[in-house]
Amino acid sequence: MCGIVGFVGDTPAAATALNALRKLEYRGYDSAGMATVHDSRLWVKKGVGRLDDVEKNHGLSIIPGSVAIGHTRWATHGRVTTCNAHPHLDCKGRIAIVHNGVIENYQELRRFLESRGHVFSSETDTEVIAHLVGDQMGGKSLLLEKAVQRAIRSLEGTFSFLAIAIADPGKIVGAKKESPLVVGIGNGCYFAASDPLCFLDHTNEVVTVNDGEVSVLTGQDVFFLNGGDTKMRRTASKVDWKWEDADKGKYEHFMLKEIMEQPAAVRRATAQDRESFTEVAMDILRANQVIITACGSSRYAALVGRYLFSKVAGKFCDVVMAPEFHYFSDSVDRNTVVIAISQSGETADVVEGVKRARSNGAKVFSIVNRSGTVLAGLSDKVIPLNAGPEIGVAATKSFSSQLAVFYLLAFAMNNRFESSAQKLRDLSYAVSIAIDCNNGNLQQLALKCAESKDFYYIARGINFAVASEAALKLKEISYIHAEGLPAGELKHGTLALIDEGTPLVVICPKDYTFRETLTNAMEAKARGAYMIGVSDEPNESYDYWIRIPEVEELFYPMVTVVPLQLLAYHLAVSRGKDPDRPRNLAKSVTVK
Ligand code: M6R
Repeated sequence: MCGIVGFVGDTPAAATALNALRKLEYRGYDSAGMATVHDSRLWVKKGVGRLDDVEKNHGLSIIPGSVAIGHTRWATHGRVTTCNAHPHLDCKGRIAIVHNGVIENYQELRRFLESRGHVFSSETDTEVIAHLVGDQMGGKSLLLEKAVQRAIRSLEGTFSFLAIAIADPGKIVGAKKESPLVVGIGNGCYFAASDPLCFLDHTNEVVTVNDGEVSVLTGQDVFFLNGGDTKMRRTASKVDWKWEDADKGKYEHFMLKEIMEQPAAVRRATAQDRESFTEVAMDILRANQVIITACGSSRYAALVGRYLFSKVAGKFCDVVMAPEFHYFSDSVDRNTVVIAISQSGETADVVEGVKRARSNGAKVFSIVNRSGTVLAGLSDKVIPLNAGPEIGVAATKSFSSQLAVFYLLAFAMNNRFESSAQKLRDLSYAVSIAIDCNNGNLQQLALKCAESKDFYYIARGINFAVASEAALKLKEISYIHAEGLPAGELKHGTLALIDEGTPLVVICPKDYTFRETLTNAMEAKARGAYMIGVSDEPNESYDYWIRIPEVEELFYPMVTVVPLQLLAYHLAVSRGKDPDRPRNLAKSVTVK
């Protein structure tokens, strides 16, 4: 869950790499660093904090050289300290490494290397890579790529890393296993990075590095080695995202921008290859057993999907939290269809579950926002979300796009793909209304509730998952404790926590869940809850009414979630928190 970037081209390379690194901060932002090779020495700067603070305090961008590697960290092994920040060096200070992933056998490697006289200076797993490469190069005048080829034979776990060395200057060598690494082919310059998004202002010509492959970037050339000495050239493909897509534009935060982009994202989600999409839907319908696996917001989207499959197509399926999925692998077989849903396509828990499911013979369909990701590569068929880059850590437009895909799948099982796609495109205007008529008012509500310690969200049936999603949104960016639960469950325990003035968000559109949800809400109001009703109809029992447009019965999740994202956003901002970079979190969770 770190971002790595390498740049070789014109001097000053560090300034270009820093600019690229800014676009990778969504992957981690607790510390950062940069290294270059220049004048027969390594130049290394690093520090704790957000990238801009590290730049201000340490001047990452001004170190000289035409070759630079940079890193933005989400700590896994070792606390958030300058020592543990990347780049890491071998003990002779001749090799620098930036790494994303986890080296699972780092303790034994470290003991082995220490027994050979290596001295370590950090608590990280990464540092063993620098020492291993250094160990290979030591005194043998080996090319850096050969040393990396040898070093990766000892590594267990997941990694993508970039290395530079004094003894082999003018070159960046990369290697990967199950963590993303791409190479960007520019005009007289090359990039290597965790995500092509970071260099799209220079080039959209991208080569995805394969597992086990070593990539070598010089100022004149890029080639790949696959175990042996044969230099391979790979054809680049074009990435269709644009640099501007990953820019905040006129918005203060990415999260707000991405909330506003939802109507367009919903329309884009309907742009599916009809034939392939229908085949997936029919395979789901015919399967003996269907399991959806995902984490966080993606799992809540799946819970809406579960209701849709049942209501629209009479197809029962289960949704299993990805970190728990492999404990059910005994029940997964060749008659099982597994649907894996992940915005990033990199979430380690989802990837792990899918691998096990595949090895048991299950068919795997994935719903992802990023093509060319690990999850896409493991799937029999991939359904794209087409949401465009989502940078804010809180999932917003990807959630709405995931909902749209589940609507399409459910209706496609019922031979109603086209009409449902049209319905969703029409509905995207209702999503705009839900945004426009609430944004201003919700700032006021947020100010009123900014000091609340707890929030509860209740709903029933197809709306229940929205309650959980809204609670997740609130807690991750505002740090207010929040719970979402089925309205009928409230009286089975949680009601004991309702006190005078406790905010209770009641999602009760005028659908089949309305009456019973309201009854449960009244039980809480009788105990002092401050009732915030999310509905298309006013009700005298609401202390505050969040108005949503009236839509067709099964489609309410598309319009109820949007004002609740806005409420979470305004609460975070009114409490002085940065909604784009919540503490302790990162956008792509690539560790188990
Ligand atoms: O990339 P993924 O969809 O697999 O991510 C899953 C979760 O990590 C993600 O939804 C997370 O819960 C979000 N930060 C929620 O806003």
